[in-house]
Amino acid sequence: MQHSYETAYGKSIDSPEQFWADAAENLHWYTKWNRVLDDTNPPFYRWFAGGKTNTCYNALDRHVDEGRGNDTAIIYDSPVTGVKERFTFREFRDKVALFAGALQSRGVRKGDRVIIYMPMIPEAVIAMLACARIGAIHSVVFGGFAPHELAVRIDDCKPKVIISASCGIEKDKVIDYKRLLDFAIELAHFKPEMCIIRQREKFRAPLNEDRDLTWKQALLGAEPVPCIPVESSDPLYILYTSGTTGKPKGVVRDNGGHMVALKWSMKHVYNVKPGETYWAASDIGWVVGHSYIVYGPLLNGNATIIFEGKPVGTPDPGVFWRIISEYNVSVFFTAPTAFRAIKKEDPKGSYIEKYDLSGLRSLFLAGERADPDTVQWAEEKLNVPVIDHWWQTETGWAIAANCMGIEPGKIKYGSASKAVPGYNVKVINQSKEELPAGQMGDIVIRNPLPPGTMLTLWNADNHFIDSYMSKYPGYYLTSDAGYIDEDGYLFIMSRTDDIINVAGHRLSTGAIEAELCAHPDVAESAVIGAADELKGEVPVGFLVLKSGVDTPHSQIIKHVIEFVRENIGPVASFKQAVIVDRLPKTRSGKILRGTMRKIANSEEYTMPATIDDPVILDEIKEALQLIGYAN
Ligand code: COA
Ligand code: AMP
Repeated sequence: MQHSYETAYGKSIDSPEQFWADAAENLHWYTKWNRVLDDTNPPFYRWFAGGKTNTCYNALDRHVDEGRGNDTAIIYDSPVTGVKERFTFREFRDKVALFAGALQSRGVRKGDRVIIYMPMIPEAVIAMLACARIGAIHSVVFGGFAPHELAVRIDDCKPKVIISASCGIEKDKVIDYKRLLDFAIELAHFKPEMCIIRQREKFRAPLNEDRDLTWKQALLGAEPVPCIPVESSDPLYILYTSGTTGKPKGVVRDNGGHMVALKWSMKHVYNVKPGETYWAASDIGWVVGHSYIVYGPLLNGNATIIFEGKPVGTPDPGVFWRIISEYNVSVFFTAPTAFRAIKKEDPKGSYIEKYDLSGLRSLFLAGERADPDTVQWAEEKLNVPVIDHWWQTETGWAIAANCMGIEPGKIKYGSASKAVPGYNVKVINQSKEELPAGQMGDIVIRNPLPPGTMLTLWNADNHFIDSYMSKYPGYYLTSDAGYIDEDGYLFIMSRTDDIINVAGHRLSTGAIEAELCAHPDVAESAVIGAADELKGEVPVGFLVLKSGVDTPHSQIIKHVIEFVRENIGPVASFKQAVIVDRLPKTRSGKILRGTMRKIANSEEYTMPATIDDPVILDEIKEALQLIGYAN
């Protein structure tokens, strides 16, 4: 029966155990839970305690066993190589079972970690699900991260095996993943026992005989293996995300709560039925890829698309429309930045007219604030509801959305709509008072969070409490600021920490600053996210040099740009830095990054009362004007 949003939301908050127990009935459990919510050790809540299940079984085998084995599960479309493939649930289950057998025969056991550093190819998803099948914990690392970032993740989660590919293809560039991987392993203190490398036709990588196997070699002699029952709260994966320090945070996701929440969201948030094609144009290296390229659609019995390309340039700004029409995509999900890229190249939307998009019902956007211009352009050109929804790596699925499968609400531009059932969202001030409608403050979620949200940070329970649970006891701190209006609509305005959002990718300015300070001539640095028409924000660096440095400034800037690219990765899009005599600070020494950002973006700002020397702000403005900002 269709509920109204108010009824569903109210039930999820007043009787969460009943609400989620009902949702969990739709999945397969080897042993039923004995408590829906174990709240005996807050803030470490556990969903479906005592239950035993397997996420891979629910994503693949269940559909085969229920007679849907011949339905399409995976569509691989790679405009950068010209390859297109389709796999049914049965075919994909068989591939996953075999690869899981290969991992098991090489000693991978339940609880072992496996890093996956791969481009968007079917083997990446096979590797994820194979880990899930045998209870190993995968940690996918986005290919646009540099070896140093990969090394930090290797040292943190200590993988037994790393699975990678000989190369990735970025438009016309071939990225030598294997070389990056070898360098990362060299940098890391911890060494994996084995690497499995998918050799691709475009480029075959040289192998290290003592440590590396090709994908094909790994499969030699392997036997398919069945799914292993795991505890509901056993980790399914670790996904690293930027934190406020340079060190990434390893978000840990469980099996049971995750599968229940994702399956529920496919119907109630996205309104897709089993058998339909659902497409999230993201990368498996991000949470969107985990939840809505891999797990959500497969758990719901949908066909999902692995797209190895970009919104523009592979080969043109019509590729999204080609795919939607070719595979009859019902619901499409991407980041606003992808639409801005398309709109820039095809403002009239003439490529859209070439394709039959009549099967498309709605477009969901997330990853960054959806600017009203982009939303309106997409609405006008596609003629479907365009839904901004808000979530984070930590939550794994939407905190706020227009729940199309419950009761589609009106769309308010600039808002991510209302709290999704399960999330008791509040806006709070520094005095821990909940704020009335319309007032800006810290956005928090009352504990317990719903199923599917993070369990903890990998090997860092205290860091989990310090980062998320201690500022406002009883609430999860989202580190986003904003307000809720009279109608309950959420407006997400900015981050309250030093995270910036570059083309939908989350980056820590602290990590970039650490790279800038590693330059021998740099005494101090600051990084801000300046507004960018395409990417939303891009990082801009400020460097204060050590006294007596006579290296040409242009050379220092060139070097720090190279440092960031080599150590964090090209994905940081760090291309601009200026040299200044001093940084604006408060009298207590805090750098006024917020004010600098406002100056860069030519926004109004009030002179901070605590600034030590207001004249510095003029110097910052002049430096920014030289590189095209603050005009
Ligand atoms: N492996 C290796 N390198 C990668 C990579 C990967 N998987 N992904 C990106 N890079 C590189 C790119 O080649 C580029 O390198 P360059 O500086 O040599 O050109 C750099 O990282 C920045 O990439 P990107 O952020 O993709 O910017 P772009 O200018 O190439 O393309 C967009 C701009 C808007 C088209 C692109 O950012 C995009 O498609 N965004 C969608 C965002 C998204 O999916 N977000 C996920 C959350 S939903
Ligand atoms: P990530 O963990 O990479 O998914 O990034 C999460 C962050 O991206 C959030 O905390 C927000 O700052 C931002 N974000 C994601 N979706 C939205 C949205 N719809 N509106 C505004 N900000 C968003």
